[in-house]
Amino acid sequence: MKVLTVIGNRPQFVKAAAVSRILREHADEVLVHTGQHYDDEMSAVFFAELGVPRPALELQLGTGSNTEQTARMLSAIAPVLAEERPDCVLVYGDTNSTLAGGLAAAQARIPVAHVEAGMRSFDRAMPEELNRVLTDHLSALLLCSSAAPAAHLRAERVAGAIEVVGDVMVDVALLVQPRALVDDAPLRDAGVQPGQYVLATAHRAGNVDDPARLQRLVEILMALPLPVVLPLHPRTGARLDAAGLLDGLLAADHVRVTPPLGYLAFTALLTRAKAMLTDSGGVQKEAYLAGVPCITLRDTTEWTETVDAGWNVLVDLDRDATLAALKRPAPTARPELYGDGQAGTRVVAALRTAFGAS
Ligand code: UD1
Ligand code: UDP
Repeated sequence: MKVLTVIGNRPQFVKAAAVSRILREHADEVLVHTGQHYDDEMSAVFFAELGVPRPALELQLGTGSNTEQTARMLSAIAPVLAEERPDCVLVYGDTNSTLAGGLAAAQARIPVAHVEAGMRSFDRAMPEELNRVLTDHLSALLLCSSAAPAAHLRAERVAGAIEVVGDVMVDVALLVQPRALVDDAPLRDAGVQPGQYVLATAHRAGNVDDPARLQRLVEILMALPLPVVLPLHPRTGARLDAAGLLDGLLAADHVRVTPPLGYLAFTALLTRAKAMLTDSGGVQKEAYLAGVPCITLRDTTEWTETVDAGWNVLVDLDRDATLAALKRPAPTARPELYGDGQAGTRVVAALRTAFGAS
């Protein structure tokens, strides 16, 4: 079996870390990196820290609007598929790289396997929601993190086969978090004490591209009663700078702005935070696994189970709701929501069953 995997963004490097090595025990994998994320701290560090195999091909297609990016990726991936003729194309999540890989494959009549299928915010203003829905409807094999996304796919009557395999990010988090819990260096570097700081990330276009919403995000960060560590996504850094809001954050005593962190340092900070403040999808799950209460800077989430379990609160960009959420006691129970850490093995087994005979 020959599998061509398309990745391109920070969370996809983490997801590939759970699958690629196992896949290579049973199949030929051609790993294609679109280059959507390209800075070392957004890309290379994850390959080095998590043992993701080196890409066979780096397309270097970062920057530009969603439409431009997706179009350039489609044009670049099509000839690669024509040359490699894989038995299937594997894509992860909901980014432009996901849709480009999936659509190029479907147009070449190569079956698509989608990991993290069926996630929905039901908000079509999010570019990620368009990417997810389209990728799901062109996929032959839809691999879901939990029962809820599988139910969404059945309700939408997708054409492909649906299987719940668990969440591949859980595999990586469960391996790394115990080590991260005893790694004090990232806390020392940030000048924070265990349990006495908030870790914050924000990068959603809906939060940072609109200057009025960006201003509200800054007001929340400034109002926090604890030290806050803020590893800045490059999109957010650029928008803060353009809006004239970066200097105020850098000058605030309680805000520690850092470049994007590698997975190990970020996880070390996450596991000891009093709370996680984020609009990231992956980080909501990781906070849950670490037993750290999450405050989500959105009014919807795809990871609804974390909210139902009481560990995640949606506050959008409401300052008072954020401050109130910070005072909430953590729940006592933390059921297994997204699998047992063996999702990568199940993804590979599903691929072999579906495409292994060819
Ligand atoms: C993308 C995904 C988003 C995902 C996020 C993970 C889409 C539509 N969005 O958003 O779903 O949650 O990745 O982090 O696919 N930049 C750099 N260096 C880099 C990468 C980006 O400077 O290594 C800057 C560039 O100016 C770029 C901008 O950030 O234009 C935005 O990057 P892009 O990949 O388009 O979107 P993200 O906001 O990263
Ligand atoms: N992450 C990281 N360093 C950071 C911020 C995030 O290693 O400074 C990791 C985080 O642990 C998670 C992934 O990046 O595994 C999430 O990526 P991101 O928030 O960019 O994307 P999303 O999940 O929202 O698509």
